[in-house]
Amino acid sequence: MAENQAGTVDTISAADYLSADIKHHLHPVTNPQTLEHDGPTFIDGAEGIHLDIHGQKIIDGVSGLGCVNIGYGNEKLCQAAYAEMKQLSYSHCFVGVSNQKAALLSRKLAELTNHDFEKFFFASTGSDANESAVKLAYYYWRLKGQSQRKILLAREYAYHGNTVITTALTGIPHYHFQFELPLNHLVQHVGAPYAYRCGNGLSPEDFVRKLAADLEAKITEIGADKIAAFFVEPIQGAGGMIMPPIGYLQAVQEVCNRHEILVIADEVVTGFGKTGSMFAYQHYGFKPDMITMAKGITSTYFPLSSVGVSKKVADVLATANEEFVHGFTNCGHPVGAAVALANIEVIEENHLLDNVNNNIAPALARWMEKFAKNAVVGEARSVGVLAALDFCRGDSEEELTAFCERVGNEALGRGLIARPMGPVLGMTFPLITTAEQIEESMKILEAAINAAVA
Ligand SMILES: Cc1ncc(COP(=O)(O)O)c(C=O)c1O
Repeated sequence: MAENQAGTVDTISAADYLSADIKHHLHPVTNPQTLEHDGPTFIDGAEGIHLDIHGQKIIDGVSGLGCVNIGYGNEKLCQAAYAEMKQLSYSHCFVGVSNQKAALLSRKLAELTNHDFEKFFFASTGSDANESAVKLAYYYWRLKGQSQRKILLAREYAYHGNTVITTALTGIPHYHFQFELPLNHLVQHVGAPYAYRCGNGLSPEDFVRKLAADLEAKITEIGADKIAAFFVEPIQGAGGMIMPPIGYLQAVQEVCNRHEILVIADEVVTGFGKTGSMFAYQHYGFKPDMITMAKGITSTYFPLSSVGVSKKVADVLATANEEFVHGFTNCGHPVGAAVALANIEVIEENHLLDNVNNNIAPALARWMEKFAKNAVVGEARSVGVLAALDFCRGDSEEELTAFCERVGNEALGRGLIARPMGPVLGMTFPLITTAEQIEESMKILEAAINAAVA
């Protein structure tokens, strides 16, 4: 028996939790034999930017999975969830049914996007938002009499989720091989704007021109009239925190516009303040036709996601005098919507975008400049709360990856979680992080690199 976070006595022992998890919990993205051997890592609680792991306070430099934007344990969100669960614990949104919070959230999202997106479809996860965006794109083309437009374009290093289609859209082979994906008759990939690894020494302007020309060539090869949409994460998160050169997003949008291909911005990671703007499309100044969001919309206190459609798309959808035959049990969940509204209020009332722009981003940028001079760092980059070290210690992909993992482990041992993604160590700090906490985290990281080199 042990006292738990809430101060009440737990009648379940630590060993019980451990054996229950090992015996019965089928974990995502986990090697079952390693799990059986090492046992799971239990997170016992969390507050602000810190996790409690076995009584040790660890800085969560990755905000969970890039999702806990406002940090852990925010009372306002807990109260919003409780109040809505009491008032309306569930309602569906099929056949015209709605609820107050879903209605208010859709209006709030239209306002936050300055009406670049007029209507919002709700779902639960980033994957089902992207899956829904695919079906909305297919349906849009059907209504326009072009239902032959079925091919989807995405990029190498992209991550769009783990359903079958979103895994196919993902451009990281590690996610494909166990399932014989991608579905090449439905999804085609083009190059990523990854200057450090794929730029071949080109100037940023020439690299952008090359990527736009490659996209144009791919469209010509397939036939524009067969292509429904192009998926882009404004910053490619899981692929290695890849930040595009200036002008890239406008350049690919121009190519797509010319061929009438819908541009779908996957802002599942970048949305809700990570770049210092509410959305990354605003930060980079391009205009997608659809946007998908999840994670930061509720800071993942409740699973909720959304697809926003521009007026151009909404106007076509409105021409249909029939049901759009797509939806999930949890579309527009009132508790999720209430939590999202409270989450957005927390971001606005606490001026968290200002904190990102005035405190977090400059502190990270200063440290990235310093890290870039380290002989084991090939490139150090950051935008807003997002930062990455692209290591060059080692000759093969395996050696680079092993070194990066060593740095990640050394950082964890010193009290900071950063996420190894192959040769790239990525960080996504919560928007509430102070400049002092960034300083503390970066000093830990510096010590971790030194220890990994030694
Ligand atoms: C850019 C992006 N899109 C989609 C997803 C999928 O979201 P989920 O895991 O909620 O399905 C993720 C998840 O990390 C993501 O990073």
